[in-house]
Amino acid sequence: MSYTLWKQLSRFTWPLRKYAPILRTMADDTGRTQTPIIFAPETYQYDKFSLDESQLEKDPIDQFTKWFNEAKQDNSETLPEAITFSSAELPSGRVSSRVLLFKELDHRGFVIYSNWGTSKKAKDIQSNPHGAINFFWKDLQRQVRIDGFTEHVNRETSERYFKTRPRGSKIGAWSSPQSSIIKSRAELDELAKENEKRFEGQEEIPCPDFWGGLRVVPLEIEFWQGRPSRLHDRFTYRRKTEHDEWEVFRLAP
Ligand SMILES: Cc1cc2nc3c(=O)[nH]c(=O)nc-3n(C[C@H](O)[C@H](O)[C@H](O)COP(=O)(O)O)c2cc1C
Repeated sequence: MSYTLWKQLSRFTWPLRKYAPILRTMADDTGRTQTPIIFAPETYQYDKFSLDESQLEKDPIDQFTKWFNEAKQDNSETLPEAITFSSAELPSGRVSSRVLLFKELDHRGFVIYSNWGTSKKAKDIQSNPHGAINFFWKDLQRQVRIDGFTEHVNRETSERYFKTRPRGSKIGAWSSPQSSIIKSRAELDELAKENEKRFEGQEEIPCPDFWGGLRVVPLEIEFWQGRPSRLHDRFTYRRKTEHDEWEVFRLAP
């Protein structure tokens, strides 16, 4: 059914939505969408840039640096370092994603900072060291997908980064048992107050040992450039292990 026809029909069927539960039971067809709550918004064309082999850097880290700098220079990309980080717990295989801020890049990989004591991502990577990062730069119509294995950065690196954080964020890191269930906002505020007292008069707040950096060492990095009619340009760099050379492939959109 075409989208326009669907929209016209829905004008008449929408008032009948209160009968949806009854109809659902009668239909006994859980695989089919009954009464959509949200319709997909209008689609748009990706028509700003293209990407071909001749533009690609030999090393994906250099290619990423080029694109990241372009995203940083683009005023419409307000938070180019915002990523979705995905991890998966084993043996269940349950996947979880969350937004984080990407903080550092070296030739080994992409570093993020978080709580590695109580968070869900901490539990996930304890059972499965693999992780994936996704960047989406809307204005540039670009996506970068990274997957690989994770490793904790050393203490010195975590401490160096922790020092750059505002005092309030340092107190926050000490005070939040990230992703643990708490009773109330008041409980959290109380924890923060206790830590403010604890570090009162102390200029340097130490980096908690449960807090620090995690590096995603990439085994695959894909660069996606939106193109008209969904015929996007996609190039992926792959290697089997961190010791192998990168190979580049064009992927169908
Ligand atoms: C824009 C944005 C930036 C965030 N940056 C971080 C971050 O750098 N580190 C972090 O631990 N959580 C960050 N968060 C919070 C996470 O999304 C998440 O709530 C938290 O890490 C707990 O996730 P987990 O229990 O699944 O591990 C950020 C959230 C948003 C929306």
